[in-house]
Amino acid sequence: MAEVTPTRAFKDGEVSVIFVLGGPGSGKGTQCAKLVQDYGFTHLSAGDLLRAEQTRPGSTYGKLIADHIKAGTIVPQEVTLALLEQAMRESKSKKFLIDGFPRKMDQALKFEDDIAVSKMILFLDCPEEVMEKRLLKRGETSGRSDDNIESIKKRFKTFIETSMPVVDMFEKQNKVVKVKCDQPVETVYEEIKKGLKKFDF
Ligand code: ADP
Ligand code: C5P
Ligand code: MG
Repeated sequence: MAEVTPTRAFKDGEVSVIFVLGGPGSGKGTQCAKLVQDYGFTHLSAGDLLRAEQTRPGSTYGKLIADHIKAGTIVPQEVTLALLEQAMRESKSKKFLIDGFPRKMDQALKFEDDIAVSKMILFLDCPEEVMEKRLLKRGETSGRSDDNIESIKKRFKTFIETSMPVVDMFEKQNKVVKVKCDQPVETVYEEIKKGLKKFDF
């Protein structure tokens, strides 16, 4: 029987995708903002897209998303994938930093089957106690429903149990650049730039 070739939204080589992973508060958004300035990537944060959809008038997913975010659990992949694909198309960009995605194996497999294959994974590695401190501080002004100690603990559990297996899978494909993030923002960024060079960015 003939082999089935997946039809992706973007043909191989048409776009460059970097997944930016790491625990909550590891500094994904902070480092992505710097990479956008220096490399011209389009930054798409899955969490930001979900929060926007949550408050969009007429969205059927508002409550579902709000409940998952507060509980620190993963929103069903269909919702997040549709938001990402739409944002990628609308941006007309060719270079993407996809921040906080994929957080679960089904998201990773479906994205790479249906949308595009990632070129590199940037994994921001940070001890829980450092992330906890940062998130509690961020919670003083963020207005986020999940920057409180109860939700933070749940997010850590989801990260270890559900998201780390995704990083491990990509590590086996030799696509992961791992950077220690309990260092000043600029030091982390210098390490990231070195990692990007290895993948020709
Ligand atoms: P994430 O997107 O991974 O959840 P953020 O980029 O929002 O993380 O960072 C979480 C908080 O920690 C923010 O308040 C940010 O200013 C702060 N922060 C990020 N990176 C560092 C760092 N290297 N050192 C100290 N604070 C940081
Ligand atoms: O990345 P961020 O911390 O902004 O994500 C906030 C929340 O959004 C997560 O804790 C989770 O509930 C949801 N999310 C998701 N799937 C993703 C990214 C975020 O369900 N890929
Ligand atoms: Mg973030």
